[in-house]
Amino acid sequence: MTNETDSTHTAVSTQPVIRSVAYTPNGGTDQAYEVIDAIRRGENPLPTVHPEVLAAESVIDIEKFNLWYTETQAIHDISMKIPRGAVTALIGPSGCGKSTLLRSINRMNDLVEGVRVEGGISLNDSPIYAPSVDVISLRKRLGMVFQKPNPFPMSIFENVVYPLRIDGERRKEVLEEACEKSLRSAAIWDEVKDRLKKSALGLSGGQQQRVCIARAIVADPEVLLLDEPCSALDPVATLKIEELISQISERYTVLIVTHNMQQAARVSDFTAFMYLGRIVEYGPTATLFQTPALIETEHYVSGRFG
Ligand SMILES: Nc1ncnc2c1ncn2[C@@H]1O[C@H](COP(=O)(O)OP(=O)(O)O)[C@@H](O)[C@H]1O
Ligand SMILES: [Mg+2]
Repeated sequence: MTNETDSTHTAVSTQPVIRSVAYTPNGGTDQAYEVIDAIRRGENPLPTVHPEVLAAESVIDIEKFNLWYTETQAIHDISMKIPRGAVTALIGPSGCGKSTLLRSINRMNDLVEGVRVEGGISLNDSPIYAPSVDVISLRKRLGMVFQKPNPFPMSIFENVVYPLRIDGERRKEVLEEACEKSLRSAAIWDEVKDRLKKSALGLSGGQQQRVCIARAIVADPEVLLLDEPCSALDPVATLKIEELISQISERYTVLIVTHNMQQAARVSDFTAFMYLGRIVEYGPTATLFQTPALIETEHYVSGRFG
């Protein structure tokens, strides 16, 4: 009897235990998320940054950057370098501050009432939050593309050359040449070359987004900022934009926010995983997706939490 009970007990306790891989906070699994739990407690653990990032030449330097929307802090003491001539993806759960960080780089958050920042960001060694900075000139150095294509209600041609026109460029040949070059770079020249004078609003969503990318690069920005540029597009249009991002990165530094893990894996060279306004792990995309240092990153990129 005693033996039977014992053997039953032993048999049960040595069974491999199949645990749910879904994470529940505060000890729901025996695999603690050290970093994420510390962040949830309000701490700022040092991010895990892989040496390849530190070795790369950087175009943007973010130094102890903090941002508050009135009372709520959205960015916590972020320091990171964005490598030149590469595509860097910002990933992380909705609300973790990806767009806020991206919009801090062209100072678009200045337009939001109650925003306060501390720390600094520099673009090619010039500090962008210095009092002397002219925000209009700063924004010319950065191309920005948003979630929803936002062509202006004007012709395709005028959309693309708009940044040059507001800069005072009037020469027809210069505008025409720049327009063709940008539309070619944005992989849409062949589709629109015979209808440049037609309204950009008549194009499909995917075409409109490529025209917006052409407009964002026409003035040769130092960095192209993309905030979920495919989230309003169908899979075919998405694929075209992804191919375009890969091509464009030969000439431009690209910083892209995406909630789509496959997209980050396909288009980016470096990936930063963010959580509650902090950087958790940052390194080469292949490393983050295949052999990340942190269990949190492994679970996040494989869709097991977040
Ligand atoms: N204009 C705003 N005013 C107040 N809070 C904001 C504003 N924009 C974003 N937030 C808050 O800041 C945090 C980060 O948001 P966001 O940068 O949009 O995240 P993500 O792009 O990663 O989804 C969220 O908590 C969000 O609610
Ligand atoms: Mg966002």
